[in-house]
Amino acid sequence: MIRSAWKQGWVLVCAVVLMVSACGEDGSKEEAGELLPPTVDTPTDVAGDQFVLTWSKVTGATKFQIEVAIDEDFSQLVEPYDPWRLNATRFTVTELDYGTTYYVRMRTERDDELSAYSNVVVATTLDEPGPEPTTALKEVATTFAVGMAVQTSRLTGEHHEVLTREFDQITAEWEMKMSVMYPTEGVYDFTRSDQIVEYGEANDIAIHGHALIWHSSTPTWVEDFAGTNEEFEAMVKEYITTVVTRYKGRVRSWDVVNEAFQDGSGQLRNTVFRQKMGDDYIEKCYQWTRDADPDVLIFYNDYNMTTDAAKLKASLDMADDFVARDVPIDGIGFQMHIAYNGPDRATIEGAAKKVTDRDLLLHFSELDIRANPNDNMSSLTEQRAIDQQAKYKEVVEIYNAIPETSKFALTVWGMIDSETWLTDFHGYVDWPLMYNDDFSVKKAHTGFLQGLE
Ligand code: G3I
Repeated sequence: MIRSAWKQGWVLVCAVVLMVSACGEDGSKEEAGELLPPTVDTPTDVAGDQFVLTWSKVTGATKFQIEVAIDEDFSQLVEPYDPWRLNATRFTVTELDYGTTYYVRMRTERDDELSAYSNVVVATTLDEPGPEPTTALKEVATTFAVGMAVQTSRLTGEHHEVLTREFDQITAEWEMKMSVMYPTEGVYDFTRSDQIVEYGEANDIAIHGHALIWHSSTPTWVEDFAGTNEEFEAMVKEYITTVVTRYKGRVRSWDVVNEAFQDGSGQLRNTVFRQKMGDDYIEKCYQWTRDADPDVLIFYNDYNMTTDAAKLKASLDMADDFVARDVPIDGIGFQMHIAYNGPDRATIEGAAKKVTDRDLLLHFSELDIRANPNDNMSSLTEQRAIDQQAKYKEVVEIYNAIPETSKFALTVWGMIDSETWLTDFHGYVDWPLMYNDDFSVKKAHTGFLQGLE
């Protein structure tokens, strides 16, 4: 009995030994003799260009082999995982491509012996992140406001994203002009202007008012005014007082009168305002503005101010006269509708200095830089984009270098190229602005930033 019991005991012991040898003390897998592959875990920490592998221990293993392929047949192995050999149970597979599915299998080595392949695991790396958001202009322009011309139809979606990311001042491109706010005698319509002012207030963006008086946006009923000159003047005073009071403390500044001087001569344009109110119509409008809002900044704004010496002189003579007689004026706006090839730096700097020497604020108020001034291009070439970038950089350098006491804002007249007013005005295509039609930044935007370095 003892013998057979002993025998049974021995058999049991052998069986136990065999079982233990099939599962190593540490729980790893092995059958006596056959070398088994590891069990590979589902990849973890999957990123854009890597993921982490872990797998089971295999007693007796001298190394493990990792194979990584981009096809499940493993016919297209990825170097250097063809295979990668190591003695561990965790490994980070790196140098992978974004947005790619990888297949992984392993084998166990025991000296010269190789196991069968393991289970296959799959990892799909993350898509490549979008372009780094560009540096925001307003974050870099710390000593003056960076402005953008806006319209009520362009205050949402990507327009809104760019506006709130890059700009800290806005100018209504056309919806805060007399023809829009006062379309019918005695009947105001602030629908559009309110929307723009409220947008600025809601997004902590300053508003530059443009433009109370401009011969190109005067309502027909004003041009055809049938009353007396006194009644006309009273109407203009009431209009300016009504509008400036409405936006008192909300609008930072106003182009009270825009483009009052003729090209080349510096003579006052013979507008209906001059005809019915006299040559001193401008100072009257400036005084009424100041009376309605003691804090709003009052600008005179015009185009070609860097190249039309007579117009610049007339503007500055007027400003000198106003300052001497305590007629309110705070600054001059250079519209800056220029081109990649002119005016040159010295011309722009020289004109700007005539304003800043007078301790007046200077506003580059409507900057766009034509890339196709001669209408001989059908698309923006790489070279012309580079030329335009250099001009944006130059203009911003010039503005950034003026005395702090004269700094106010640099405003760009439109966001994406297809929205520029220039196309309708000149009748042919151009790319004068800083953003492509998909709202991606152009080299021009880089030029603006370079001008701030
Ligand atoms: O799109 C609207 C349409 O929905 C509406 O029914 C219609 C009603 O008139 O207006 C359409 O908008 C037009 C707008 O341009 C479209 O962008 C306006 O009519 C038209 O008057 C407006 O022209 C503007 C122009 O000033 C006159 O106000 C331009 O956008 C604007 O770029 C241009 O800007 C001027 C500055 O104020 C002064 N310096 C020169 C500069 C260029 O002319």
